[in-house]
Amino acid sequence: MRRKLLMGNWKMNKTSPEAKEFVEACGDIVKTAKEHNIDIGVAPTYLSLCCASKHAPEGLIISSQNVHHLSSGAYTGEVSTEMLQALNVQWAIIGHSERRTYNNETSEACNLKIKKLLSAKMTPLYCCGESLKTYEDGQTKPFVKDQIIKGFKDVSKEDAAKVVIAYEPIWSIGTGKNASKEIAEDICGYIRSIIKELYDQNVADNIRILYGGSVKPNNIKEYLSSPNIDGALVGGASLKIESYKELLTNIL
Ligand code: PGA
Repeated sequence: MRRKLLMGNWKMNKTSPEAKEFVEACGDIVKTAKEHNIDIGVAPTYLSLCCASKHAPEGLIISSQNVHHLSSGAYTGEVSTEMLQALNVQWAIIGHSERRTYNNETSEACNLKIKKLLSAKMTPLYCCGESLKTYEDGQTKPFVKDQIIKGFKDVSKEDAAKVVIAYEPIWSIGTGKNASKEIAEDICGYIRSIIKELYDQNVADNIRILYGGSVKPNNIKEYLSSPNIDGALVGGASLKIESYKELLTNIL
C-alpha cells in the first residue's frame, strides 16, 4: 500500500521569517495527515531551510528544491547533500521543469543528483513532464519515457522505489490550465509501466508517483482518487496556510 504524499513547492517565495511562521502553524495539519497515513511536506528556498527545519513540527517533511551531485568543492552557489543533512533536511526536488528550462538541467544531470541523494539515504523527488508543443505533437509518452530512463540510469532495484516521481506537464504549471484527471492518470500509469520494464512489478507497485500542475483544493481530490496517482506536488496553492490545509482536508 503506497502512502499518499502532499508536497508544497514554494519555489522562490517566502523569506525565512515567513517560512517560520508557516511551519509553526502546521501542527494540526501534520497531526491530521499522520492520523490518515498521509505524508506531508514543504520545499522552502535554500535560505529558509535552516529556519523551517528548526521550527517545523515533527513529521512535517522539509525538502530542498535542488542539490549538487558532489559533496564539496569549487562550485559557487551550490549546496551538497551533507549540507542539507546537517540541517536535518532529507528530501530534495530534482529536475523541476523550471530548473530544466532556466538552468539548463538535463535528465543526465538529474541522474547524478538522484544517485548522490540515494547514496546519502535521502529521498529524491524527481520531476518529469512535457512542454505544450510536445503534448500537442502527441509525443508526451516518448518524451517522459526518455526522462525516466535517463533519470534512473544505474539506480539499483533496491533503491529505485525510494525515489518519488512527480509528473508535471509544463503547460499546466502555474497556468490554471490543469491536465484532466484522465490525462494525469494515463501518464502516471504509463510511468509506472516504464518502472516495471526497468525493474519489476514489485518496484512498480511500490514507487510513488505524484501529479503536479495547477493542483488546487477544489481539484486535488479528483487526481488523488485515480489509481496511479499517489499524491500531488503543489506550487501556488501551497503558499497560504489556509489553502495548504484545505489541500489536505479535501483528500481525507
Ligand atoms: P503550480 O506549480 O501548482 O503553481 O502549478 C506546481 C509545480 O511547479 O510544482
